[in-house]
Amino acid sequence: MNSPLEIVVLAAGQGKRMYSARPKVLHEIAGRPLLAHVIHASRALGPQRIHIVYGHAGEQVRAAFDDQPDLVWHEQRAQLGTGDAVRSALPGIQEGSRVLVLYGDVPLIEAATLSALLDAAGDERLALLTTRLDDPTGYGRIVRDACGAVVSIVEERDANIEQRAIDEINTGILALPAHRLHPWLAALRNDNAQGEYYLTDIIAMAVADDVPVTTAHCTADEVCGINDRVQLAEAERRWQLRQAHRLMRAGVTLRDPARLDVRGELLHGRDAVLDIDVIIEGRVELGDDVTIGPYTILRNCRLGSGTTVASHSVIDGAELGCQCAVGPFARLRPGTRLADGVRIGNFVETKAANVGAGSKINHLSYIGDAEMGAHVNIGAGTITCNYDGANKHRTVIGDDAFIGSDSQLVAPVTIGPGATIGAGSTITRDAPAEVLTLSRTKQRTVAGWLRPEKKETR
Ligand code: UD1
Ligand code: CA
Repeated sequence: MNSPLEIVVLAAGQGKRMYSARPKVLHEIAGRPLLAHVIHASRALGPQRIHIVYGHAGEQVRAAFDDQPDLVWHEQRAQLGTGDAVRSALPGIQEGSRVLVLYGDVPLIEAATLSALLDAAGDERLALLTTRLDDPTGYGRIVRDACGAVVSIVEERDANIEQRAIDEINTGILALPAHRLHPWLAALRNDNAQGEYYLTDIIAMAVADDVPVTTAHCTADEVCGINDRVQLAEAERRWQLRQAHRLMRAGVTLRDPARLDVRGELLHGRDAVLDIDVIIEGRVELGDDVTIGPYTILRNCRLGSGTTVASHSVIDGAELGCQCAVGPFARLRPGTRLADGVRIGNFVETKAANVGAGSKINHLSYIGDAEMGAHVNIGAGTITCNYDGANKHRTVIGDDAFIGSDSQLVAPVTIGPGATIGAGSTITRDAPAEVLTLSRTKQRTVAGWLRPEKKETR
């Protein structure tokens, strides 16, 4: 059994190069703040506590996470360096625990990597997460002795020419026993090129105190820091590609893994196929054999097995049964529920509508606040007039009803089962079952009528 784990996330940096009113760690990847990604990876490790060191625009950062009462917040008033930042969290850290230090602006870090780092640290060692970079400029370099043992970390600005040539860099992420951290942080000095208290100086102290220093390694991609919006966009693409690969390995076909955006959670059955430029937001659940056409947005919705969505459709807060066919150019809004085998065609909008099994709304319709039975046919251009300018009203349509094209159903109104509504009707009162109801002026033909002719102009 390892001693309890305390995680310290450094997030006091301002992020000057973002040129933003928003603190850096609140900028988003995959629709979630950078800091949320780090917290997510942290939680997977089952820590005793997660400490967040905040500073710049701290109230905004705290407010963004006020639904997560398990986080412990520590203010670092002036940014005097990473060593000072960890020092601000010390009062909250138990003496007998292990400490893991993470950065709030390194969002792609994975729990498995951190687990390996914690294994390397055990209860008594100092473990550093390092990686190799083709261009290590700007990073602290890992200095090793002839036997390969870590001796120290030297910051770029304090490094000599040989040290600058070292391509193994400090990711900043490290783990160590808390009882070592206390005295070492107290001994930090700021007599370096930046006048900061460097957390990295504790490595040389560990070596001096004969505390073993070990390393764990990861790919450079995983520890890329976000300093500007170019790096933010690059990290977004990396994160998305990672999701895409995970989905494909789990049996989802992606026509192009580089053209998928998951900003939430995608659950799926077998053999789902997603065409290009699909955006997933919130929690989306797909059954078996679901096909999603290109340029489609799916947000907080559930699609039953065998359902297909054709291109340029937006499905938001809707539940679709099995074997439905939707789109192209359909918009299903919150509260839409389609039973099995429903067909929704182009330029159809639905909202708060229950549509019974096998019903069809194939062209140019608005169906809102409606209760529709099974096997109803809604003709092209049908509109439920659900809003009188002040209140919303419901339209109820019975099984097997047939609504002729270009009809307006002025709610509240009920169309009986098996009723037929003649095309072009404005229905303001209930229509009885099984019979034809229509409301249109009789067609007439005017004999001898002549088209007007263009007047001669001089
Ligand atoms: C730090 C490391 C360097 C490593 C690099 C990896 C030190 C001295 N150097 O350098 O070895 O290669 O990270 O990216 O640790 N922060 C605070 N309070 C502070 C200072 C920083 O919370 O007073 C936070 C920042 O918000 C950021 C993280 O700590 O999340 C790292 O700070 P940054 O200034 O980017 O570190 P570097 O100087 O780049
Ligand atoms: Ca710095």
